[in-house]
Amino acid sequence: MSEPLVRTEVRGRVGVARLNRPRAYNALSPELMRELLAVLRAWDQDDAIGAMVITGNEKVFAAGADVKAMSQADAVEMLRSGYIELFDGLSTIRKPLIAAVAGWALGGGLELALACDMIVAAENAVFGQPEINLGIIPGAGGTQRLARTLGKYLTMEMVLNDRRLRADEAARFGLVNRVVPTETYLDEAIALAQAIAARAPLAVRLGKEAVNFAFESTLQAGLQHERRLFYLLFATEDQTEGMRAFLEKREPHWQGR
Ligand code: CAA
Repeated sequence: MSEPLVRTEVRGRVGVARLNRPRAYNALSPELMRELLAVLRAWDQDDAIGAMVITGNEKVFAAGADVKAMSQADAVEMLRSGYIELFDGLSTIRKPLIAAVAGWALGGGLELALACDMIVAAENAVFGQPEINLGIIPGAGGTQRLARTLGKYLTMEMVLNDRRLRADEAARFGLVNRVVPTETYLDEAIALAQAIAARAPLAVRLGKEAVNFAFESTLQAGLQHERRLFYLLFATEDQTEGMRAFLEKREPHWQGR
């Protein structure tokens, strides 16, 4: 049997998806992206899973789209392949997604990390959009998500001149949640995911939805949206339980209802 393009493991309430094309530096073929999305969608439907981690290996998260395959493609083939749309699929995942990045996160690799909700970086992580070297630009969200996170000027340098960010720089510029030793980066990302997965599931889900809405709307529309989700949570058993547990000075028992 051939090796899966995405290796999976469940640790407690966390699903861990490991990109598995080490010889191609985890180049993101459409087949790999389809496999990844299928895994994430299945976990999104599974009540036993509360959060997910996407990772690569200690040397590379992902070096971007598969340049060998792409070098032969014309515009119509690229359009018809649906490759880029696979990245949109990540935004349909309702549970928290954490990218655990060690080594290279380049091109589509960085765009995959940017499509997650949080990024835990190993000390050896390097983030970049080197597409300019190939005569193209990022096409899976890099220009937009980096501009919203880093601002215009640094994003311009990354997109137009292949400026790469080391992990410590990425942390300084707010691109990652934390930088941790390379030896423990995956354990740290899983620990963060476990902590979130132990919280009230519906509040986590709507909290993610509310924060993401900030990137899609005006402030006023975002405030309205947040308020509706806030009110909605008062219809849940977990809200009753959470507040009762606080007043009774005990740990809450979440039901996800
Ligand atoms: N696609 C296909 N194969 C890749 C690859 C990629 N993105 N990145 C690396 N590889 C392959 C190399 O061809 C090489 O294969 P062989 O052993 O068969 O020759 C192997 O992985 C190791 O690569 P290097 O010899 O280059 O290793 P290195 O340690 O010197 O450098 C690297 C590592 C910095 C990641 C370098 O390989 C690199 O710059 N890779 C390309 C990065 C890139 O341009 N990414 C953007 C792609 S476009 C994109 O991503 C657009 C999109 O999704 C929308």
